[in-house]
Amino acid sequence: MDLPPDHRHYEELKQQIHFHNHRYHVLDDPLISDLEFDRLVLELKQVEAAHPDWVTPDSPSQRAGSAPAERFNKVPHPRPVLSLANAFGAAEARQWFERIRKLDDRVEQAGFVVEPKIDGLSVILHYQAGIFVQGATRGDGEVGEDITANLRTIKAIPLRIPVGGEAPGKPRLDLPATLVVRGEVFMHLSDFEALNRRLEENGEKTYLNPRNTAAGSLRQLDPAISASRPLTLLVYQVIHAQGGQVPGSQWELLAWLKALGFPVTDVARRFATLEDALAYTETFATRRDELPFEADGMVIKLDDLALAADLGYVGKDPRGAIAFKFPAREVTTRLNDIGVAVGRTGVLTPYAVLEPVEIGGVSVERASLHNFDFIAEKDIRVGDRVLVKRAGEVIPYIIAPVSELRVGSERVYQPPAACPACAQPVEHFPGEVAWYCVNAACPAQLVRNVEHFASRGGLDITGLGIRIVELLIAAGLVADVADLYTLERDQLLELEGFAEKKADNLLAAIAASKQQPLPRLLTALGIRGVGEVSARDLSARFPSLDALAAASQEALQEVEGIGPNIAAAIVDWFARPRNRRLLEKMKAAGMDPRQAAAPPPASGPLSGMTFVVTGTLPSLSREGVRDLIEQHGGKVVDSVSRKTTYLVVGEGPGSKLQKAQELGVKTLSEDDLRTLCAPDRRMEVP
Ligand code: IVH
Repeated sequence: MDLPPDHRHYEELKQQIHFHNHRYHVLDDPLISDLEFDRLVLELKQVEAAHPDWVTPDSPSQRAGSAPAERFNKVPHPRPVLSLANAFGAAEARQWFERIRKLDDRVEQAGFVVEPKIDGLSVILHYQAGIFVQGATRGDGEVGEDITANLRTIKAIPLRIPVGGEAPGKPRLDLPATLVVRGEVFMHLSDFEALNRRLEENGEKTYLNPRNTAAGSLRQLDPAISASRPLTLLVYQVIHAQGGQVPGSQWELLAWLKALGFPVTDVARRFATLEDALAYTETFATRRDELPFEADGMVIKLDDLALAADLGYVGKDPRGAIAFKFPAREVTTRLNDIGVAVGRTGVLTPYAVLEPVEIGGVSVERASLHNFDFIAEKDIRVGDRVLVKRAGEVIPYIIAPVSELRVGSERVYQPPAACPACAQPVEHFPGEVAWYCVNAACPAQLVRNVEHFASRGGLDITGLGIRIVELLIAAGLVADVADLYTLERDQLLELEGFAEKKADNLLAAIAASKQQPLPRLLTALGIRGVGEVSARDLSARFPSLDALAAASQEALQEVEGIGPNIAAAIVDWFARPRNRRLLEKMKAAGMDPRQAAAPPPASGPLSGMTFVVTGTLPSLSREGVRDLIEQHGGKVVDSVSRKTTYLVVGEGPGSKLQKAQELGVKTLSEDDLRTLCAPDRRMEVP
């Protein structure tokens, strides 16, 4: 294609964003900082605003979502989208093998691939000439629903393939003109928990489990809703391909999909015999908590895909694969009581006190009841037998009462009218489900506040866990977080369990926390709606606490990600006399972090980055690589430190590589470096 240089640059910019998006969302191994990535996206938006006719459906800007749809259109699948038969235990899996061996003895030589069975939502993705053109739900297996706009918002879905295949120096893979792949959309358990924590802190309704949340998010008519949920995807099947070669083995297929830029599980293994496949499968029955998502089993598939196809299917279940189901992690037990926890922001959260019960090898005594509305909607009564589920590391939760088992002595639950910790009346805000204790001096809130202040995401004060926080508050030494900075050694030594070393360590950790940068302090203060990301963005715009305290709601709203509610919460926080006194006390203790204002936009793509080079690079000399980096705005230094952005590694690297690994400095090949420099590569091509 002969494009004018500006248009060519736009095409390269799209490629670059896809490349870094893939590094971040699929490979989990970003090469550039969020700030640098945001700059690329900003540039893309500027170019697209100036040239709306250039915008293509595969542009990263098209992820953000189009207008809400009236309804979902139907999409016929090019081939039936099958389900799976289940095996409960190894004996049933062996019976499956015997059945198919009798049908075709080639099964003995076929080999097996074992993959996790992700508890998500099956989706079908259509690509034409490498461009993502349509995505659908499974529906009844013959016809699904068109959810293209929602799927586009999932960053793990390539909008254009091959992502890696077009990187400099990498061979272009043989890509079928039409390619229809299948995968599972789901939510990582940690993202699900974080989403619920955020909702809870904002007084909004929390979600019941990752699967329903993922499914519900995808079936929204408004793509903006899917875009706001942390959805991701793993791909495992080719439904249809035309005009190109697709591997005939499941194992090779997974590798091929991965090379095309699709996210593929790294838990899959290939085995020659069913017994080996079963041994691996069974280890996961006990290790399933190690998976970052909810899996309800493992799938055992014949590796030979042609043979699997020959075997055909029974109903909707292919004969060539079987789902080895893990034991269910739902049990019933008695709800002995309902307790109420008071959170950092004063939110009251009910929890279930259970007759202890074992679920998947763990004894469970407490479970989430979400919120008071949930208890009323499900008519959960104290004394009921309830169905409890435990999934991975997610806090166990109550699904529903088993009302058939009621004996008549169960008690309907009334939410408390007063805070269980300070006995002050509770309040409800319009539009929120939560009840709040609004007493700023509530001791339960104070404990949570100080704990949050000292937590990893906050000021990271080692040794200040919740037990010590409780001790300090009970002893009357800490009435707000600023009091931490006036603690004295003798006071600590009087506390239970404190010897000299422990007291000195704690004081040193508290003193060190004064040096934490502004975004950390801002997160630590626990202002409603201000998490790590918004704290960083706010600090870039308002470089001191004073600047933030003086900011108007309108000015705050100009910061990306800060909406009217959060802006109002920030203004409100700084306006409260109690918080003003807190900040004064902190300043008096020597805390007043400042953030350097955001640097002016980069002149080259490597601006602000520091590089070190080690080993012999394939084509560039030492001077050559230095020139390349400097021409693109980067800096080259001799030794690796924490400040190094990247180590460029060639053949025969020296000790710098080890140092970089120790310090967690990312490494690049010459190819990667050239890709980073790519926006300006148009200059080399006349
Ligand atoms: S293979 C012929 N592999 O489980 C291929 N399915 O209970 C049939 N699922 O409808 C499907 N992870 O939505 C396959 N690694 C995986 C899977 C998987 C999750 C889902 C899929 C299917 C359901 C069957």
